[in-house]
Amino acid sequence: MKNKTSKIVILSGAGISAESGLGTFRDKGGLWDEYDINDVATPEAWEKDPELVLDFYNKRRSLVLEAKPNAAHYALVELENHYDVHIITQNIDDLHEKAGSNKIIHLHGEILKAQSVNDPDKQYVLNTSKIQLGDLAPDGHQLRPHVVWFGEAVPRLEDAEELIMNANVLIVIGTSLNVYPAANLIYACTDKCEKYIIDPNELSSVKFKNLIHIKGNATDKIPELVNELIHR
Ligand code: OAD
Repeated sequence: MKNKTSKIVILSGAGISAESGLGTFRDKGGLWDEYDINDVATPEAWEKDPELVLDFYNKRRSLVLEAKPNAAHYALVELENHYDVHIITQNIDDLHEKAGSNKIIHLHGEILKAQSVNDPDKQYVLNTSKIQLGDLAPDGHQLRPHVVWFGEAVPRLEDAEELIMNANVLIVIGTSLNVYPAANLIYACTDKCEKYIIDPNELSSVKFKNLIHIKGNATDKIPELVNELIHR
């Protein structure tokens, strides 16, 4: 199978960046233990208290700016030398880009970018770590983080679905598959597609049953799987 026309699709979540120091959401002590989603990650939260929302994402951005890619991110870059690799990530960090991966879809936005409250389709790369109330987009409206809040549309979902439909191998990494529509993407692949999930925790839910569970941390198990795929 080893050739550049064989498609490997990666669906990554917070777990791939955990060993780079960026916390996950739903593990014990995760971000959603500390914060209520309804206070910081919905359009209603923004209406009610934009300063709190900006502060929450300003903190996330500071951490992302300090974080470095780990062995898992780098192994996926190596995989590109052998296969047609596409990364679909739920993460708002830029660690896949920093590592050097080329084809990346961010389903839930990118924390290092901003958008106008009036136009989600135009994004601006931030050259500061903070967005503050009063910071305006070129269209004169308030800037907000370029992230997808609960209740908002997920961009490029159809592109992601098409990639998975055509995948020879799907590797799901470090996601609890609790957030939809992203979680439904695993059902888009064909029966012929090899499907793996890399996660250190027990996966008891029926939604994981068609995926081969490689139990362990991303930084151990992804380089191992990549090595196996390259040498088969
Ligand atoms: P979760 O926090 O829900 O799930 C993280 C997963 O990573 C869990 O299954 C962990 O077991 C696993 N994990 C932890 N450490 C790991 C490691 N070192 N290596 C591999 N896996 C590890 O995060 P996501 O599924 O990414 O969306 O969350 C999905 C979405 O929910 C996020 O994109 C965000 C959040 O609310 C929005 O804010 C819209």
